[in-house]
Amino acid sequence: MHPAREAHNARMTTPLVNDRAAWLLGGGTHCAQPPAQVHRAWRLVLLGPPGVGKGTQADLLHHSLGACPLSTGDIFRHAHNRPLPAGSALAEAWEYMQRGELVPDTTVLGIIAERGHCLHCRGGFMLDGFPRTHAQAVGLDALLAREDLQLDAVVCYSLPTPDLVARISGRRICPQCKAVFHVATHPPRTPDVCDQCGSHLEHRADDRPEAVTIRLETYHTTTLPLVEYYRAKGLLVPIEASGSGEQILAATLDALRSLPF
Ligand code: AP5
Repeated sequence: MHPAREAHNARMTTPLVNDRAAWLLGGGTHCAQPPAQVHRAWRLVLLGPPGVGKGTQADLLHHSLGACPLSTGDIFRHAHNRPLPAGSALAEAWEYMQRGELVPDTTVLGIIAERGHCLHCRGGFMLDGFPRTHAQAVGLDALLAREDLQLDAVVCYSLPTPDLVARISGRRICPQCKAVFHVATHPPRTPDVCDQCGSHLEHRADDRPEAVTIRLETYHTTTLPLVEYYRAKGLLVPIEASGSGEQILAATLDALRSLPF
């Protein structure tokens, strides 16, 4: 195997040391092993359409920068695997997700507010999949002001729609350890078996074509306007997300390190 590919696969299959319990569970839970103190704690938002590779880049950036990946989608998927009171906001969030619709802003903002301490993580943070609406962006501004924190950048990944559909349709996830694979670009060593824990890989519930169509439409109508919102604030870092994960990581790191701080 080509050494670059080998390095890529090694990083992609290296589980995060941090269990992100504080983020996934909320309610004052502490992480078993928080990220190490870093020289510079990056505070980032990762923006971009479904399937563009935000989660993949968050994982790679975590290994490069130390910042903790904070995905709202992960909170909802994690909650779905736990017993929750019927009718609770988190239980209802799963219904929205499965349809490919956005979870209501009030639910999302409440969940984020409950996890405000994660924004003080000593490794820094990367918000993945939040904010997704104008109301969420305004809510994040207010929360950051309350916490006396500032974003360093909003990294916005883009890719043509056919490529997004190809990435989503080939995605397989591990229901146990949450590792993400792709049948063509990042296949597991044994087909349909997780490299990390040996579980049987699955399609994500919202990767059905009907739900993907709704997710892509929702991104264009509701989330894409945030590009201008953050450009106007001078925070936008646009990255073209074609090429390998390592190439996109390198482009992201170059762009971040050339910011005028
Ligand atoms: P969320 O979990 O945030 O999903 P998403 O934004 O739709 O993004 P995806 O996870 O589909 O894609 P990704 O960009 O992370 O790509 P990945 O790295 O996996 O949200 C899911 C749902 O939760 C929403 O639809 C909504 O219902 C709800 N929700 C979440 N947050 C919300 C909010 N704030 N407000 C309201 N509702 C909210 O990569 C995709 C595939 O491509 C993988 O197989 C990967 O291996 C492969 N791949 C990655 N990079 C490359 C590459 N460079 N080359 C080739 N293949 C690649």
